[in-house]
Formats: sequence, C-alpha cells, structure tokens
Amino acid sequence: MFFYNIRFLTGINSEDSPYLRGKNMAKYGILENAWLRTHGDKIIAYGTADTEAENMRSAKEANEQLIDVKGGMIMPSFCDSHTHIIYSGCRDGEFVDKINGLSYEEIARRGGGILNSVDLLRNTPEDELYTQALHRAEELIRKGTGALEIKSGYGLSVRDELKMLRVAARIKETTPLTTAITFLGAHAVAREFKGDIDAYVTHLINEMLPAVNAQGLAGYVDVFCDEGFFTPEHTDRILTSAAKYGLRPKIHANELAVSGGVEIGVAHRALSVDHLERAEQAQIELLAKSETAATMLPGASFFLSMPYGKARMAIDKGCIVNLASDYNPGSSPSGDMRMVGALGCIKMKLLPAESLCATTLNGAYAMGVSKITGSITPGKKANLIMTAPVHSPAFIYYAYTTPYIEKVFLNGSEIK
Ligand code: NIG
Ligand code: FE
Repeated sequence: MFFYNIRFLTGINSEDSPYLRGKNMAKYGILENAWLRTHGDKIIAYGTADTEAENMRSAKEANEQLIDVKGGMIMPSFCDSHTHIIYSGCRDGEFVDKINGLSYEEIARRGGGILNSVDLLRNTPEDELYTQALHRAEELIRKGTGALEIKSGYGLSVRDELKMLRVAARIKETTPLTTAITFLGAHAVAREFKGDIDAYVTHLINEMLPAVNAQGLAGYVDVFCDEGFFTPEHTDRILTSAAKYGLRPKIHANELAVSGGVEIGVAHRALSVDHLERAEQAQIELLAKSETAATMLPGASFFLSMPYGKARMAIDKGCIVNLASDYNPGSSPSGDMRMVGALGCIKMKLLPAESLCATTLNGAYAMGVSKITGSITPGKKANLIMTAPVHSPAFIYYAYTTPYIEKVFLNGSEIK
C-alpha cells in the first residue's frame, strides 16, 4: 500500500528503540506532508515530498493500492498494555452504588466487586464468554487498538483461570490483534479461601501455576499487590514461583495505598508496575532507575474519581511512562485508548506527543511487543490509524469526542 497526502505522520521511531523514557517521549518523531509505504503486513518506508514521486511511481508499477489520506494524519495503532476484557456480563449495579456514595473498597469488602465478576464468570459457558470478549475486542479494534494485553483473574480456581486463559488464546487466534496474555490468579482471594489468604497463595503456587504452565497459555504473571488484597510478601512468593516457569511480572500496585508493590515489582524486574495512583516521589525515582515501565491508568481514576497518577513527575524524573485502559467491569468499563490519551493530556499534563508515545510505543514495551509493533518504523507491523484532516496532531486529544478515526489497518490490511 502507498499512503499519500499525509498532513502529519506521527509516532516515528527511526532509531527503533524499544521505548522512549523521560524527556525523550516529547521527541517522538513527526513528519509533515509525508508518504508511507507498506508491503504485506509490514511498514517498509516513509518520507516527505522530495521522495514522494519516485516512490509513488514504483508503488504504481508494483500494482500496490494507493490510499489518498486527504490531509489527514497517519499514526501507529494504540498498544493497550493492561486490560481485563474477559468477563461475563457487567457490574452496572455497583455503578449506582458508587453514585450513592460507596467506595470501590467498600463494595469489595461486602463481597461484591471482583468476586461478583468471579461468580458470573464461573457460571458462564466458555463459548459465551468468548463471544462477549470478542465483541469487546472488535469494538477496540474499530477504535484504533492494535495490540492488547489480556489478563485472567475472574476465575480464581484452576478450572476457571484456565477457562479464561483459553478464551484469551482464542481472541489471539481469531482477531488481528497482537496480544500478550497474563495470568492474574492473585486478583482477589476466592470465596472458598475467605479469611485465609496464605492458603489461597499456597494453592495458587502449588496448583494453579503448574497448570497454567502445563497448558502454555500465559507469558506474564500479575498480582493485585495492594491494601486489602495481596501483600508484598505474598507477591514475592508468587513472583518467585512464577519465575521458575519463565513468567515475567506485570503487577498492580499503589492503586489503593503505597503498599510496597512498586518496590517488589522492581526487585523482580517486572516489565511494568501498573496503576500508581498513590505512588509518590520515592516510588517514581525507583522506577526511573529501572527498566520497569510505569503504567498509569487514567480511565480508572476518571471512573472511580480517584487521584490521577503522577505521570508528569514520572516523565520529568526519567521513567518509561505508558498509559493503558484497564478495561474491566469494575473500575474502567472502557477501552477507548484515544480517551485515555486525552485524559493523559488533560488530567496528567502530558504533551500530545508524550500521550501518543505513552499509548503506542511505550505501551508496546510494557506488554513485551515493541520489537514488532508500536511505532512507525520500517520492519514493524503495518498497524496504522488514519484520521480525517486535523489542524495539528494534538487535535485528536483536544477535540476528544469528534470521530476523527476514519480507517484502521492491522497487519497491513484495512479493517472493514
Ligand atoms: O485494575 N484493581 C484491580 N483490578 C482491576 C479492577 C477489577 C474489577 O474491579 O473487576 C483494576 O482496576
Ligand atoms: Fe487492572
């Protein structure tokens, strides 16, 4: 394919670095009045007006499809490194409870929250669960997501965690998404183990992890390391065992309290530590010295009226910052990554280029796929978003509800 009349080509990563950290995020590459060429499922070249005629000629000679972008923007597809899209039904009752004044923690303490979704999921046949998750995945693709991390964590038993992971594997096989699959058995303590977290953690280590490993269904491991859920000691036990199976950590930390999750995550060389709404300067400075991505989830802050993570400080201190949707029925029932980027700009004071980097290249890094996708780089997947004409690249965040996304391309094919 040959794309021409591109007013802005954004998300260029000419050095093919696995991420951009700190002040380099604002330097995410951009070209004006550009063209871009793909071949098969890959990006092969891009340039500006001076080289357009010769490349268009050779594309025509090769019978490639020519796409007039008509003054719009081409940018990399979004890479959403943190989701829980496999769940059954919804939790709209809790939505009303929250409006009436209950907090996320109070709902969880009453046995609702995550355990509510666990009950629903256990009673949902696998095919039906797949259909529901596929419906969500298809919506996200239309909204510009090209890479998606998918967690388990609403099964909390060997049988039901494996069921979720099989559904995740089916999403991987049956959609054009680039996926990463994460085992989150430590999302909450299953009702059968109520009051005995240690016994549940032992069960997870002795029964769940070997079963997950035997099926080869997950590449990552996650723990909800936070107040009222799992402690850093539990997290340490789980991550140590998971390492024996080659599962790299991506953990939930500092959503509800400064709980030691960042420290334990960095000590285990986690690919990312996620949430960080309550993280303070000390945690941010620790992350800045590490290769662990600081993943922030502004959609959860928005939906639960929580503080926003200190993404500005994290960038200023030199962290690898990325933004993800946290799509789940309890704290973020939306996977709209453009909205996530807009919240990054509006609520976290990220520059538009930083928000774009945080939702594409750095998101790809935080899910272990930045070698193959996440930026405009020859050799990477042709996962692209084409917009209507925009005044500037900032426009998709500035006029954040106008439907600018006109077409999406995954693996070099237009999604119809
Ligand atoms: O990332 N915080 C823990 N897990 C999810 C919420 C899951 C749920 O409420 O169902 C999150 O926000
Ligand atoms: Fe989450």
